[in-house]
Amino acid sequence: MMWPVRAITEDEAPLFRARLNRGFGADIPEDEQDSDRFLELFEIDRTFAAFDGEDIIGTGGAFSFQLTVPGAATVGMGGTTIITTQPTHRRRGVLRSMMDYHLDEVAGQDEPLAGLWASESAIYSRFGFGIATERIEMKMDAPMISFREHRGLGSVKLLEAEAAEPVMRELYEAVRLSRPGMLSRSDTIWRHSVMWDPSHRRRSRSARRYAVAYDGEDPVGYATYRQKEKWEDFPEGEISVIEIIATTDEAHEALWHYLTTIDLFPKVVWWNAPIDDPLPERVTYPRRVRRKVEDSLWLRILDVPAALEARRYEMDGTATFAVADEYRPDTAGTYRLEVSDGVAQCRRVAAEPEVEFDVDTLGSVYLGAPFLLSLAAAGRVRGAPEAVRRMHRMFRTDVAPWCEEVF
Ligand SMILES: CC(C)(COP(=O)(O)OP(=O)(O)OC[C@H]1O[C@@H](n2cnc3c(N)ncnc32)[C@H](O)[C@@H]1OP(=O)(O)O)[C@@H](O)C(=O)NCCC(=O)NCCS
Repeated sequence: MMWPVRAITEDEAPLFRARLNRGFGADIPEDEQDSDRFLELFEIDRTFAAFDGEDIIGTGGAFSFQLTVPGAATVGMGGTTIITTQPTHRRRGVLRSMMDYHLDEVAGQDEPLAGLWASESAIYSRFGFGIATERIEMKMDAPMISFREHRGLGSVKLLEAEAAEPVMRELYEAVRLSRPGMLSRSDTIWRHSVMWDPSHRRRSRSARRYAVAYDGEDPVGYATYRQKEKWEDFPEGEISVIEIIATTDEAHEALWHYLTTIDLFPKVVWWNAPIDDPLPERVTYPRRVRRKVEDSLWLRILDVPAALEARRYEMDGTATFAVADEYRPDTAGTYRLEVSDGVAQCRRVAAEPEVEFDVDTLGSVYLGAPFLLSLAAAGRVRGAPEAVRRMHRMFRTDVAPWCEEVF
């Protein structure tokens, strides 16, 4: 069954918020009942609901992001967010109705792709989304972490939020284009998401700490984290890292050294490290950095030529491939990608494809990982081995893609 879906008005925002919170099984916190944050953070004309009569039974929205793609370039991405269906209406096509509306809206904004973080990994491939970045959760007993070499860069200072924000903004902008998968941060995102730290979000942990690494007078990286005190027979406190941004290898080392040597806090965990974070390579006992891999950003390509021409390639070459797209058949077709000096031209062709895959697979390989060859081994890329290997080399990147924040 299809349900009516449309953008909400400001008047409908209170009901929308109530339904959104209930959809995630939560209540609106006491100190946020009248908050203007919702209307400031979410773009009202990109915030939509599914209706059953007058009532809102499904919620969703889109952020206007610029996504970093390989080659220090960016592309417009509709950031799919706040998706819920009321439990009374589950599995009756509400999400499907909202996705129809949402992907049309994103395509209409000239954003060649949509991206999201999935609550469940079985939901979104049917809508053409593929896993484009992965994250690792790194967990360690800090006293077991000794650095092979500690170059002892400058100093690390703890700043208060107001002082930290401008420094963090500058450092973030300095690295944003260096890693595919990173997102642009508007003033609103800085204010209402990155720096937003109400007590109900802390879950018995400290306020956010802001540690900035300096090389001489120059800030070169930052780490944000929370602390959770715990005492049994001995101190067992935990540091939960929220984000590490380092502009140099030395800053990365200095921040990790700092985070793993805070007295009374022997447990350190970063839930969202890039899969190529070099911490394990820095220490004498790498297995002591426990690592667990999970999916993070999922991408849905809506305009194949625009998306593929927006990124750069580390290897030149030509590939003719067919994309299947059951959900949005207009995207399906055979395309030729021609890369010269790293810059691509992509267009539809009436030719025999060398390689074939579904649109979710294209979303998966778009930022450089996971690799086309492993998707081929899983039967998700079909074609002559030579052509598959060539495409694999064209798409992969030196730096692993990483998405720094859930949205
Ligand atoms: C996830 C959620 C939005 C799905 O909404 P829904 O209205 O029940 O979904 P629909 O009825 O439109 O289902 C669309 C398709 O997705 C499938 N699907 C929906 N939720 C699924 C899940 N959790 N796992 C696997 N498949 C799921 C349905 O089986 C259906 O498949 P089909 O059309 O191929 O037969 C809803 O379960 C929900 O609100 N969950 C809690 C909040 C949440 O997790 N939101 C997602 C944030 S990323």
